Amino acid sequence: MNLSMNTSVAISAALVLLTASSAANAWGAEGHRLIAEVAESQLTPAARSEVARLLSGEPGATLQSVSTWADEVRSQATAPWHYVNPPPGECSYDRERDCDNGQCAVEALNRQVVVLKSKAPDSERLVALKWVVHLVGDVHQPLHAGFKDDKGGNLFQVQAFGRGTNLHSLWDGGLIRNRAGGLDALRSETAATAVAAAVPPQPAAWAVESCKVVLSPGFYPEGRFIEPGYAAQWDPVLVARLRLAAQRLASTLNDALR
Ligand code: ADE
Ligand code: ZN
Repeated sequence: MNLSMNTSVAISAALVLLTASSAANAWGAEGHRLIAEVAESQLTPAARSEVARLLSGEPGATLQSVSTWADEVRSQATAPWHYVNPPPGECSYDRERDCDNGQCAVEALNRQVVVLKSKAPDSERLVALKWVVHLVGDVHQPLHAGFKDDKGGNLFQVQAFGRGTNLHSLWDGGLIRNRAGGLDALRSETAATAVAAAVPPQPAAWAVESCKVVLSPGFYPEGRFIEPGYAAQWDPVLVARLRLAAQRLASTLNDALR
């Protein structure tokens, strides 16, 4: 009795820890790094040199290398900055309703862009740059604008690529890591060559777009076993979200750093 109680307490604790850590990422490192790399190639000369100047505060730092910083420093206070939950069953965004105290990805991104554009000290603008690079990516991961009831798919367990995981984690990294052709093929499919226009960010619209992917028929698989057909069916959407994230990150930086 005691032993089994202890065992079940230990198992519960382990599950809590596993759930916490599985909810702790956005696009995995691969997705964020890819978005940053492709965006870099679409910067205007002015934005590129200002990015380089801000990054020079940290030896060796690149837009790619700082793209995962926000996940590395994740705390209870900043965890809600990585996602936004629309109302149940509907894709829309209302700041008052969906972003309590500004603690969601949409408003966090809006705030960081303001700092990046400002005359704040370089050290503060560098931190803002790291947030912007990361959060533009997050807002484009469909399940970072998914629903609260299953924590954006974190609670939807699935079996995929030979192991147990959840739908959120599958979209963060599983689909990317197991993609035919590997990261090189994904990079060339994600890359758009032209320099991105300099337009202000629209995080709320991007989040609504992500949410609409989540609500599309078949996004939640019928069973809990992810068939090879799932990855094939959703691959164009995966590539499109990564490509849009990269283009919009470049546009955002080109606009903010003229
Ligand atoms: N990560 C942790 N909680 C989440 C939620 N409610 N929605 C999306 N991602 C999350
Ligand atoms: Zn994140």
